[in-house]
Amino acid sequence: MKVTVVGAGAVGATCANNIARKELCDELVLIDIKEGIAEGKAQDILQSAALLGFDTRITGCSRDYAHTAGSDVVVITSGLPRKPGMTREELIGANAGIVKEVTQQILRYSPDAILIIISNPMDTMTYLAWQSSGLPKQRVIGMGGVLDSARFKYQLSKQLGASAADLNAVVIGGHGDTTMLPLIRYANWNSVPVTALLTPEQQQQIVNATMVGGATLTKLLGTSAWYAPGAAAAAVVEAIVRDEKKLMPCSVLLEGEYGLNDICLGVPVTIGRNGWENIITYQLNETEQAMLHQSADAVRSMNDVLKN
Ligand code: NAI
Repeated sequence: MKVTVVGAGAVGATCANNIARKELCDELVLIDIKEGIAEGKAQDILQSAALLGFDTRITGCSRDYAHTAGSDVVVITSGLPRKPGMTREELIGANAGIVKEVTQQILRYSPDAILIIISNPMDTMTYLAWQSSGLPKQRVIGMGGVLDSARFKYQLSKQLGASAADLNAVVIGGHGDTTMLPLIRYANWNSVPVTALLTPEQQQQIVNATMVGGATLTKLLGTSAWYAPGAAAAAVVEAIVRDEKKLMPCSVLLEGEYGLNDICLGVPVTIGRNGWENIITYQLNETEQAMLHQSADAVRSMNDVLKN
């Protein structure tokens, strides 16, 4: 199994580190446009192997996509991150060109790869990667909901004094501060609905904190976060390479599901060796359904920017 991570910046290198430590593949390639950075990060990760006990082979390279040939899974993190006060949507101009070019380079050498798109605005970049590549829809997966759901669980765990691992909580919709939809009605702590444990005010507070989770960190860090994003991207890689059939909220092409068409948006899907396999349709109430469609409208207007 061979995995490539494009972009050896904060998220890409953290993702690679998690993949290596978990030995998710035999061969891992890091590639970046900046001379030296991918080689340096690959060596740095490898120098932790004796301490942490893993055997994943890692190489780093700049620009030469021949090194990525025959990859089974490719994680695309290349692009600009946001600065404090910026929305993810403001990155579209710079990142669209990067994602399109990288997708073409990757497929030249790895025509059978499954692509995981991380670069923001992620739903639009996922749609762009799918459309410009001509790949079957199952092989293009946008990662945002896995991270947002982990942030949702973090907020719930703080409020409930619970282990985050005991919580089930899903965020669907777009990967944006105002477009994501944390499904509090479905969240549960070891099968107990959290709506039975928290006041409506507490529930709203948790939903709000989840939605601005990324922006809160960007303000603190001066740039966007990397530990949880890198771990979330590696979790999607793991579900593919281990054929887990894991239920994960990911941005995928919708063709009528949830009443939506011709858009990539976060919905619960099963992930396995062939990419995303099935879309799971939750029974949304009227309010949730309306919010999901509002979210889709916002993502669609972002997609339209690319057409102009
Ligand atoms: P970063 O600036 O640390 O790393 C980005 C890397 O991409 C840099 O090393 C840069 O040299 C490289 N790069 C730029 N153009 C390239 C090209 N054409 N080919 C190869 N490499 C290229 O940024 P960071 O923090 O790693 O974020 C990366 C992207 O991921 C951003 O767009 C950010 O907004 C997004 N992001 C998405 C998340 C999600 O949940 N989907 C979560 C966190 C970040």
